[in-house]
Amino acid sequence: MFKEFIDEVKSLYEKLLNNDRPFLDDFLKKWNIEGSIGEVYQNLCKKELKKEMGSFYTPYEIVDFMVDEMIKGLDYWENPFVKIVDPSCGGGYFLIAAFKKLVVLAEEAGIENPGEHVLKYNIYGYDIDENAVMITTLEIFNLTGQVTRNIRCQDFLMTDGEFDIVIGNPPYMGHKVLKGEYREKLCEIFQDVFQDKADLSYCFIKKSIDSLKVGGRLVFFTSRYILEALHGKGIREYIKNQDKSRVSLIFMESELLKELELTILYLNL
Ligand SMILES: C[S@@+](CC[C@H](N)C(=O)[O-])C[C@H]1O[C@@H](n2cnc3c(N)ncnc32)[C@H](O)[C@@H]1O
Repeated sequence: MFKEFIDEVKSLYEKLLNNDRPFLDDFLKKWNIEGSIGEVYQNLCKKELKKEMGSFYTPYEIVDFMVDEMIKGLDYWENPFVKIVDPSCGGGYFLIAAFKKLVVLAEEAGIENPGEHVLKYNIYGYDIDENAVMITTLEIFNLTGQVTRNIRCQDFLMTDGEFDIVIGNPPYMGHKVLKGEYREKLCEIFQDVFQDKADLSYCFIKKSIDSLKVGGRLVFFTSRYILEALHGKGIREYIKNQDKSRVSLIFMESELLKELELTILYLNL
């Protein structure tokens, strides 16, 4: 079933890239997709695969909350070319929510073809999971009728690029999962924050902060564990040394997810 789903996603994606605009209706109907394609993908993915990729997609309520926070600090009139990236975009939930809100701002700012503009200049994504990249691109096509080439299948930790806003939910992978040459490379590149039992998300936080333009902002949904983990000392120090408004972390916790409105912890370190 999983293979059949991915084969269909791949075939639709290839059509898109060849400028042969596919109709998604049959696909959406066949797989009973009423919400998002990413959601169905997540359900079909085996738990093991999720562990390997550190991928648990963020609940919509949290995505909305974070995108609203992000938007509050934006002056779209001042900078209609603001660059927003989700460095580990998964099913594209953050990017799609950001797209919808930015189109409204672009309209208000009198931009011509606001949808096209936002997609071309404002929204960027990375993921190492090629299925996630295909799904996000299809999802955006389904929503806008436009094909974006800004969603890339690449390891964000090894990319260059500067952004005004980094938003998302980085992958969590402990030392038991990360092994071999890749781990050694991370230890070398991210030596201030990634040692011993440190988590991959710490590399994402550092890399994201380093990718921010002057005045840029990081908004991440992440594990509370970072606040007290012994091997989180390096990343805590790194965050502490940033300007106050530069880093916002929203912490996940099971109770928090259940009673969203009451228990969101929002911290500007
Ligand atoms: C926790 S999920 C979050 C997905 C999405 N941002 C969301 O919140 O719904 C993490 C994602 O990170 C991706 N990932 C893992 N390592 C990565 C890397 N080095 N570069 C880019 N993406 C990566 C996984 O494939 C997965 O889709």
